[in-house]
Amino acid sequence: MNQPPLTRREFSGLCAALGSSLSAAGGMMGALSSASAVAAAARTVKFRDGIIVPALGQGSWHLAQGRHPEAAEEEALRTGLSLGMTLIDTAEVYSSGRSEQLIGRVISGGRDRVFLVSKVPPQHTAGNGIARACEASLARLGTDRLDLYLLHWRGGENLAGVVAAFEDLRAQGKIRAWGVSNFNVRDMEELFRVPNGDRCATNQVRYNLGDRGIERDLLPWCKQRGMPVMAYTPLGDNLVRDSTLAAIGAAHGCSAAAVTLAWAIRSGTVIAIPESGSVEHVKENAVALSLALTPEEIQALDAAHP
Ligand SMILES: NC(=O)c1ccc[n+]([C@@H]2O[C@H](COP(=O)([O-])OP(=O)(O)OC[C@H]3O[C@@H](n4cnc5c(N)ncnc54)[C@H](OP(=O)(O)O)[C@@H]3O)[C@@H](O)[C@H]2O)c1
Repeated sequence: MNQPPLTRREFSGLCAALGSSLSAAGGMMGALSSASAVAAAARTVKFRDGIIVPALGQGSWHLAQGRHPEAAEEEALRTGLSLGMTLIDTAEVYSSGRSEQLIGRVISGGRDRVFLVSKVPPQHTAGNGIARACEASLARLGTDRLDLYLLHWRGGENLAGVVAAFEDLRAQGKIRAWGVSNFNVRDMEELFRVPNGDRCATNQVRYNLGDRGIERDLLPWCKQRGMPVMAYTPLGDNLVRDSTLAAIGAAHGCSAAAVTLAWAIRSGTVIAIPESGSVEHVKENAVALSLALTPEEIQALDAAHP
């Protein structure tokens, strides 16, 4: 399903977000006109509270681990921001908090232009653990609020207590919305049975062309409730070297990575969060924001990756 066109209000909001993300990306101002062009065609996803985000964000699990120099990783994130990938996903456990610190440096001075997502692990949910974990994440990120705060995975937590703590943080303005990660349909049904559990904004799960399990149950379950899904590991295990993807990419003049990301966000209800510490890879990935695959190309991908 292709995404419906944006209303004038939605389009203006997106342009404002993308345009202002440029000033967050120091040194990237020269890209203003090309970023506006991206904005004109960019795919977006709407949360149930009406907030609109780009369908492509940026992950950060392996940042600040020495895979690339940290300055290069910061530049890669800034490049992604300048190209419209203004949603950044992180978690307190990534690189023991150093991923959040690195992101804090990137967004400093430009917080309003970024949709910031972080996560709390289940072992920090007892008592006032979520409030303390949130404060610690905010401090590492150098901000006073998160746009989205997720329970990272299930692990013996009291779901009703988790929802109550998230709702408290929301009431205090420390988080704008909350959600979960790695929940299956049974977990989601359990969540929706606790008080305010149906205020969950999203479920972040693994989804890529080589791993389509959620299409059987979780994706339709969320779609029925108007709830967007966040797709992690959207580049899969080796999809960037897949021959079908490469052939489609060649026809569009882009990489296999861009094609597989465009496939992941094709429905308008999935936000993919590829991670890269490389400016070149980020530029390749950002192409997916404005890449429309034809029905024949989607059929070919279905046949190659049933
Ligand atoms: N909620 C959860 O439990 C959970 C679990 C896993 C991941 N996540 C989130 O999802 C994000 C993405 O998932 P992921 O890191 O597992 O997988 P991914 O984004 O699918 O893949 C990341 C890998 O692909 C490489 N890459 C990126 N763009 C490329 C391109 N254009 N061409 C070739 N290689 C490219 C990156 O290396 P370079 O840096 O060299 O580009 C990195 O090795 C994470 O960073 C994290 O934020 C959440």
